[in-house]
Amino acid sequence: MESETPHLRGSLIVFEGIDGTGKSTQIDLLARYLRARGLEVETDFEPTRGPWGMKVREAALSGERLSVEDEIECLLQDRREHVRGFIEPALAAGKWVLLDRYYLSMMAYQGASGANVEQLREMNEEFATIPDVAFWLDIPVEQALQRMNARGNGHDAFEREDFLSAVAGVYSGMEMPWLHRIEADGTVTDVQQRIREVILQELGV
Ligand code: TYD
Repeated sequence: MESETPHLRGSLIVFEGIDGTGKSTQIDLLARYLRARGLEVETDFEPTRGPWGMKVREAALSGERLSVEDEIECLLQDRREHVRGFIEPALAAGKWVLLDRYYLSMMAYQGASGANVEQLREMNEEFATIPDVAFWLDIPVEQALQRMNARGNGHDAFEREDFLSAVAGVYSGMEMPWLHRIEADGTVTDVQQRIREVILQELGV
């Protein structure tokens, strides 16, 4: 009889915050740190580059967002495919998955666009794996906008000051036991240190 070594399930770690908070830099550093400890790590992001995610991205880049109802429909479909096709199989194979945005982004962005935040949470948690740890990288909106301007990529339709303030307002009201607020206006090294302290405390690595 064939015997397979059962994998220990991996952990799901999510990074959230408004645009320009340094999520991708922090994810890369954490991935390197975890790999150096012998863990298998995958990094990924939402919206994905699949057809549903691209529909939302392309609209925002053209300067005109879809209706909030259409955004919710597309992004839920995008996330369903991501959870089923990538996140769950990776976790089951023992990999640690680090995500740049997940369903808290929907609560914050579509919530700030008028949708009911609690309902958005319920719609997502019907199918989406709940994170082991999520980080909300918090910096003042003006500073995030300065960083975006310095990058010189131009702004998409999500990146307007009053809207991002509303988005930050929704993040600040979230109270999940697994969600940790990180002050993200320090140096890259300081912020990474704060993140690693939480990972050690919560996940023992
Ligand atoms: P973003 O991470 O900024 O992508 P990129 O760095 O490639 O531009 O994501 C694009 C936008 O999508 C971002 O402004 C937030 C928005 N978004 C939502 O409105 N709802 C969601 O559920 C997700 C995942 C993203």
